[in-house]
Amino acid sequence: MSAKVRDTSCRRVSPQARSVDQSATWSGPRCCAICPDLPALPSAWTFSPFQPFLPAIPFSYVTDEQSIATMANKVEGMVGKTGLDLLVNSAAVLERGSLSSVSSQGMNHTFQTNVVGPLLITKALLPLLHLATKEHPPGSPGVAIVNISGILGSMEEISKNNDSMGYSYPISKAALNMLTRCLMIDLKDTGILTVALHPGWVRTDMGGPKARISVEESVAQLCTVISSLSSADNGAFLDFRRKLLPW
Ligand SMILES: NC(=O)c1ccc[n+]([C@@H]2O[C@H](COP(=O)([O-])OP(=O)(O)OC[C@H]3O[C@@H](n4cnc5c(N)ncnc54)[C@H](OP(=O)(O)O)[C@@H]3O)[C@@H](O)[C@H]2O)c1
Repeated sequence: MSAKVRDTSCRRVSPQARSVDQSATWSGPRCCAICPDLPALPSAWTFSPFQPFLPAIPFSYVTDEQSIATMANKVEGMVGKTGLDLLVNSAAVLERGSLSSVSSQGMNHTFQTNVVGPLLITKALLPLLHLATKEHPPGSPGVAIVNISGILGSMEEISKNNDSMGYSYPISKAALNMLTRCLMIDLKDTGILTVALHPGWVRTDMGGPKARISVEESVAQLCTVISSLSSADNGAFLDFRRKLLPW
C-alpha cells in the first residue's frame, strides 16, 4: 500500500519459527522487502506481523530485467540455501483514462508494471521458492506467491460499478489474475501456492483519502489471510477478509 506494504516484497521464515507452530506458516521473523522508497519502509513493517530482520533491498523498476536479476542475486545472498517462503507482488500503477484518452503508451506502461513485472520477478525468484519447499513437510502450506490484484480485475464485480477506473488498470488486473492461474497450473506439483488477493479499498496514493480502510487494517488482514493459506486456496482470488471473489 502507499509507502507501506505496497511494494514487491519477499519474506523468509526461519525454520525455528516453523518448528514452534507448523500451522502459522508465515509468522517467522526473517523478512526482506524490495521497494523503491526505503525511507518509508520501517513504519510500513510495523503494520505487519512479519518483522524485518533482513535489510531492505533498494529496487527501482519491476519492469527492468537487469534490475530484477540484480535484486534476485541480492535476495539469494540474504536467504542462502534455505530459500524464500513468500513472495508478494504488489507494485502497480493506476492510470485512469477515458476511451478518448487511452493510449498505446499508457496501456503498455500499465501492462509492463502490473503484469510483466510480477511475472519476471516470480521467474527470477522461483529457484529460491523451490529451495524453500524442501524445508516444508509434505502436505504443509509452506511456500507461496501472492499477487496483489484488485476487485476491478473481476469481470463479474466490475459490472456492478458505475466507474471501471479506465481501461489499462482493470484489464491489467484481470491479466494478473490469469497469471495467477497460469502459475498455479505450472507449479501445482511443486509445493508452491499461488493466490491473487484484493486488499480492499485502501487509503493510499492509489486508493485516495476517501477509501474505506486504512493501510494498517488492510495489511493486518492480508497478513492474516496469507498466514492461513493452505493447498485448498491454490489459484484462488480472495479478498482481505478471505472472501472468495468471482473472476
Ligand atoms: N489502494 C487501493 O484501494 C487498492 C485497491 C485494490 C488493489 N490495490 C492494489 O494494491 C497494490 C498496492 O497499491 P497501493 O494502493 O499501495 O498503490 P500506490 O499507493 O500507488 O503504490 C504503488 C507502489 O508501486 C510502486 N511502483 C509502481 N511502479 C513501479 C515500478 N515500475 N517498479 C517498482 N515499483 C513500482 C510505487 O513506487 P513509487 O511510489 O516509487 O512510484 C509504489 O510504491 C497494487 O497492486 C494495487 O493495484 C490497491
